[in-house]
This record gives sequence, C-alpha cells and structure tokens, in this order.
Amino acid sequence: MTSEYFRHGYNKYLLHPWANFNELGADENKTVITRGEGIYIYDADGNRLLDGPAGMWCMQLGYGRSEIAEAVSQQMTQLAYSSPFNVVNDKEVELAGRIASKTPGDLNRIFFTTCGSTAVDAALRLCHLASNIKDQPNCKHILSRESGYHGSSFLSASITGKERDKSAMDVLTDKIHFISEPCFYHHPNFASEEEFCDFLIDELEDKIKELGAENIMCFIAEPILASGGVIVPPENYNYRCWETVKKYGITYIADEVVTGFGRLGHWFVSEEVMGIVPDIIIFAKGITAGHIPLGGYAVSERYLQELSDDKNEFLYANGFTWSGNPVACAAALASWDIFEKENVFDHVKEISTYFQQQLKTLEQIPLVGEVRGVGLMAAIETSVQSSNENDRLEKDYAVGELVDRHCQRLGLLVRPFINLCIISPPLVIVEAQVDELVSILKKGLELTLADLREQGIWQDASSSQNTPSANRALNS
Ligand SMILES: Cc1ncc(COP(=O)(O)O)c(C=O)c1O
Repeated sequence: MTSEYFRHGYNKYLLHPWANFNELGADENKTVITRGEGIYIYDADGNRLLDGPAGMWCMQLGYGRSEIAEAVSQQMTQLAYSSPFNVVNDKEVELAGRIASKTPGDLNRIFFTTCGSTAVDAALRLCHLASNIKDQPNCKHILSRESGYHGSSFLSASITGKERDKSAMDVLTDKIHFISEPCFYHHPNFASEEEFCDFLIDELEDKIKELGAENIMCFIAEPILASGGVIVPPENYNYRCWETVKKYGITYIADEVVTGFGRLGHWFVSEEVMGIVPDIIIFAKGITAGHIPLGGYAVSERYLQELSDDKNEFLYANGFTWSGNPVACAAALASWDIFEKENVFDHVKEISTYFQQQLKTLEQIPLVGEVRGVGLMAAIETSVQSSNENDRLEKDYAVGELVDRHCQRLGLLVRPFINLCIISPPLVIVEAQVDELVSILKKGLELTLADLREQGIWQDASSSQNTPSANRALNS
C-alpha cells in the first residue's frame, strides 16, 4: 500500500470497534487485509491466512464469489435503492418469500434491517409496542442469559450478558434480567449435564414466578451462545426453556444471527435441531454470505394478528433507510442460489463431524481446558491457573494474544476473545483445509505454552491435573 494515508500508519484516522484509547495513533500489530480468495485472506504484504472465523461468522461461501459480485453489480445498475417507507422492491419481496418458506410454524412475516443489532432492536421494539397495544404497560421485562451476545446498539448491548466484556459504557439495566449461562464446563459443581439442565430450567421458572409472567415481555436466546464462547447447552435445554416460557405465555425470541444460514447445516436451527417454534427469529450475517450488511426478523402471523385493532391507532414506527435494500437483497438471493446449487448445507452436515473430531484432539495440549462446538462453530478455551480473577483475566488476555500472534505467523487467523479461540470457518471448507487449520492451531497453542513456561506464567501440574475435568474444577 503506497497511499499517503498508509504511509502515516493505518491507525492514524480509524477509530476501531472495541478500541483501546491508549493505543490510538500507535500501529500495534493489527493485520491489514487487502484481498480474499476461497477460504483464505491476504494481508498487505501478501501473506496468506486461513480465515478461521469466516470474517465474523458470516463469510459462508468464502471470498471471490463472482456470482454474488455479478448479482450485486447488475442490481446496482438496475435499481440501487428504493425507499422502504414509500415503495417496495422486487428483490425484498422475493427474499421475504424465500425466508418465510424456511422458517418454522407461521413465522411468515419478514422485517428487514441493516444488521443483527438493528434486528434485535427492531424485534424488541415490536414487543414493546405489543405490550402497549394490549394495554399491558408493565409487561416490559426482558429475560436474557449471561454470556449471550445480541449486539452493539444501546438496547441490544443492554441485553448482552458477556460479563468479561463489560466496559464503562452505559447500558439499560431496568427490566433486564440475566439467568445463568448454560455452560456445563463453567459449572463443575454439577454432577451431570442433566442435573445442570434441571437447575437451569428451575432457575428460569423461579425468575418468571418472581417477576410475574404477566410482566415479562420476552425471553431472548441464541440456540448456541456464539460470541460468548460457543456454549453448546445441555441436551434438550433449548426445548425445555421454550416449553417453560410458552407455559407462561411469554414471547420467545430465537437469535439465529450466527446459527441461521448454514453454520449447523440448516437454514434455521430452531425447529430442525431444537424442535421449537419461536415467536420471532432474528437473522443477519450469513444471509448475504457476509457480502453486504443485511439483517432482520421473521415474526409469527398470529403474533401480529393479536396486535391489529379496529381503530388503527398504533403504527410500528420503526425502520431504517436501508431496510430491504435491493442491492443487499440481491446479494442474499445470489448467496441463496449458491447454497442450494452447491448443496452447501449438506456439506456442512458431513464435514462437521470431522471438524469437531480433529479440533477435539487439541485437548491433549495441557494449556487447553476444553474444546467444544457443534456444526462449523467451535471454541478452544485455554485454562491458566491463578488465585484471583483479576490476575487470571490478565493472564488470559496474554494467552489469547500469544495464540493469535503465533497462529497468524503460521498462516491462520483466529478470533481470540480473551482466553477463547473462536473458530467458525467458511462453510465450504474441505477436509485438507480442516487439517491445515488444526495443525496450525496445535502449533500455535504449543508455542504459546512454551512462552508461558518461559515467562513463569505456566507451571506444569501432574498430567492428571490437566484433563478437561480437572480444568473444569479449576474454572469454578
Ligand atoms: C447472536 C448475535 N446476535 C446479534 C449480533 C449483532 O449483529 P451485528 O454485529 O450484525 O449488529 C451478533 C453479532 O455477532 C450475534 O452474534
């Protein structure tokens, strides 16, 4: 890169998401990406990196997909924009119909937004409106989960439960309640997953009784808690939550921003994997295979019918300049065609077993506490011992940075989140590339362990102390 701006350093003008103000102006070790091809991206010096997180859980089909580029280009020439407030465009109509054909039950009404956060916001604002229309002004409490991630707008950040990610930024706290994360590994005091699941369901029901079901506007949950550490809940947990919530007549919102559009080999997992029919499903990311921002939700027809009133007094006064943008919808339709034509979701179902099995072998490295995942999403959680939480957090950050640095040098982009390496490659990954990914991760983790030993941060315990179950106890 030769432009004047690059000569000044990439960190001169950009304010990055999740910025650390102490680092403003300093070119720390962020990688500048300039192109992508297949499941690989290339940095400004031409180094090739396997894209471990698929952008951010979104580049389902990898990079350089000319079919999507052509559809976008053609749409830009044909109709680059249409106002969502005054008219409709043919692409959003087509896309809404296709989505409705894949959603469970009567979730046939599709509202488009610009991304996942705006979709979560828009859905919650619909629920607020519903309570007002039904003359239940106190029915505004929201149930969410610790370690759940729902976005970065004021409202979606407020219902996000990632404790270790909390900053000094304000969030709404009134009427927002978090129940425990369904992570068995983090709760070693339970003898079995079944017992843990019973506890979680009891906790949910107790919270409903405490607040009064009539005051609870909705329960929102990711089927698999993605950014919170790829937490795969105990078997039947999602079903039992849904059953409990519905028993009390509470609205169930499934946040499928990550699980939708193929990450587990399904359009949506709510019904096909978990056997539930939510009232609202949120989607984003994979819908355009990451090519253009687009999000939205599908809502039950019955839910909306309950809101119609004879006097036509209430408007859903909510929408965005780029809701249902024809170019974004064209990218989604072109991605959709490839998902079908190339049987991408069947491929995901097939390769997931191999992917998970190979990653699981990393548990042999003493630094690794647990490898967990499902479909093409996984997390490697490292486990460093420490007597207090602040010290452990500092060490966990150091470990994450080391793994990240070593893997990048070896040709793999990981997504470190403190002590978690989150891996969710493009859905089109093949076995040889899984091998490449796992062997780099293995080397990166081993080099990190060697560094930690050298720095005195890691003390080797007897081998039995480094098993996943012993690490579970460590993390309690
Ligand atoms: C489950 C979930 N919901 C919502 C969001 C927010 O989406 P966006 O970043 O597109 O606003 C994310 C983003 O990672 C997510 O993982």
